[in-house]
Amino acid sequence: MAATKIEATIEATKKAYPEEASHLWWQTGIIYQIYPRSFQDSNGDGIGDLKGILQRLDYLQWLGVDCVWLSPIYPSPMADFGYDISDYQGIHPLFGTMDDFDELLEAVHNRGMKLILDLVPNHTSDQHPWFLESRSSRDNPKRDWYIWHDGGENGALPNNWLSVFGGHAWEWDEITQQYYYHAFLKEQPDLNWRNPQVQEAMMNVMHFWLKKGVDGFRVDVMWHMIKDDQLRNNPTVPDSPFDPKDLIYEFYDPVYSTDQPEVHEIVRMMRRVTNQYTDRLLIGEIYLPIHKLVTYYGADRSGAHLPFNFQLLTLPWEAEQIARAIDEYEGALPVDGWPNWVLGNHDQPRVASRLGRSQARVAAMLLLTLRGTPTIYYGDEIGMRDVPIPQDEVVDPQGLNMPDRNVSRDPARTPMQWTPDENAGFTDGKPWLRLPHSFRRVNVELQKDDPDSMLAFYRSLLALRRRHPALQTGTYTPVYSDKQLIAYIRENEKDRLLIVLNLSHRPGYIRPQNENFKGEIIISTESERIGLRIENNMMLSGDEGLIVRLER
Ligand code: GLC
Repeated sequence: MAATKIEATIEATKKAYPEEASHLWWQTGIIYQIYPRSFQDSNGDGIGDLKGILQRLDYLQWLGVDCVWLSPIYPSPMADFGYDISDYQGIHPLFGTMDDFDELLEAVHNRGMKLILDLVPNHTSDQHPWFLESRSSRDNPKRDWYIWHDGGENGALPNNWLSVFGGHAWEWDEITQQYYYHAFLKEQPDLNWRNPQVQEAMMNVMHFWLKKGVDGFRVDVMWHMIKDDQLRNNPTVPDSPFDPKDLIYEFYDPVYSTDQPEVHEIVRMMRRVTNQYTDRLLIGEIYLPIHKLVTYYGADRSGAHLPFNFQLLTLPWEAEQIARAIDEYEGALPVDGWPNWVLGNHDQPRVASRLGRSQARVAAMLLLTLRGTPTIYYGDEIGMRDVPIPQDEVVDPQGLNMPDRNVSRDPARTPMQWTPDENAGFTDGKPWLRLPHSFRRVNVELQKDDPDSMLAFYRSLLALRRRHPALQTGTYTPVYSDKQLIAYIRENEKDRLLIVLNLSHRPGYIRPQNENFKGEIIISTESERIGLRIENNMMLSGDEGLIVRLER
């Protein structure tokens, strides 16, 4: 009975919206990343929590996002702010309780939105019971759950692998007289994914959350999960600017410590678990060149639904390069592989700091008009910038370990700026990271009512994307690019939309060679131009982006 009713509804929807109905929620939707420590504090301890997020769901709905991804909320000693998990099936008391979580999940669903969690399967905390057991003796049944090695002669390290956070990736354990491997902090020992018991334990974790109704996972450092079984030395990167003595990760090319062929079997295993539930999403965090990235879709699309595409974060912001990267990506995608784009996250400088606030609007327009699922990082929608954190307030281990390299991630993780009031409405206590002086100017409350604000711009882009399915599921055709501009068309049966973006600060002209474009501007970074008609040659101001609805 229920099934027929659902089927009837689906059929009716398909008739009403033939195109949208053939796509899944994560293909048409928009993902919004929340860093829970920094979104909203509800109990005055200066750290964001689940109840705080609950209070802000109205905002997210008003903004128009479809899916919330939470960075880790599990019990953790917080050596890497939650990416060092000591219990995969609990909630850290700082964030609340399991009841709070259940309430949040239900509230998200009641609003027609989705919730996905961060899954960190590559490593645990050194305080996780699995590791405590594993390190307790060489013959403990869980010894082989982690990567232990005797090392070479005279205490030499097993190989030259380095930690992403600097220094050697091997830690000597005095008690059992062996080294263990940690790609990140020594407090984050890597699991041995070649061990079937480890595989089973983590699949059980996934079942636990999926049964609760969680809509999927963003899998942390997916490309790290399996290492070369012979533990061979990584080769050096040619002409590296780094001194080998400084033990900087980028000195070596991690060809043996990451992206091993066997990883795809693990990803497939995870996908099989998510496939047992309806409509769940598997995202992989993967920093690799495009031709390798796309292999994570898996043979016959049996891998991740969305291997995160970080090109907009990692490439220099130059029109020609970006245009080429978009085309390269489109060209490399496997048949039926759904694209995706990310503009910011908790590990990278914020877009408004990298590009400036004006260009950040152009970047938003690019993110939200390209073909594929966009991911927005909290605060970028109000143009939050990296906040300068004094040396003695730095807490990010990456920043603390490499103080001279300016690589602390704290500046991009500061509290959300909600209001012009004390502590920006984030907390009644002392925020765990300081706010910028500018929060009284740059905040949700003020921008909400200002039609020219970054927030209003984001919101109208999100609404536009919903209103014009061509932007969600239409085809992508590049039409023009030069040193300043990029232009492309998104098209379906109903709509033909031309997107023109000036990635430079200086005015630019587009002279499409083989086509005549006529139409009306439906959105622009210069709101005065909305509604104007354009024909053929177009002139753009510096930092301008616009969308033209073309006449056919
Ligand atoms: C991922 C996370 C990052 C974390 C690292 C180790 O890259 O995004 O924040 O430090 O993994 O878990």
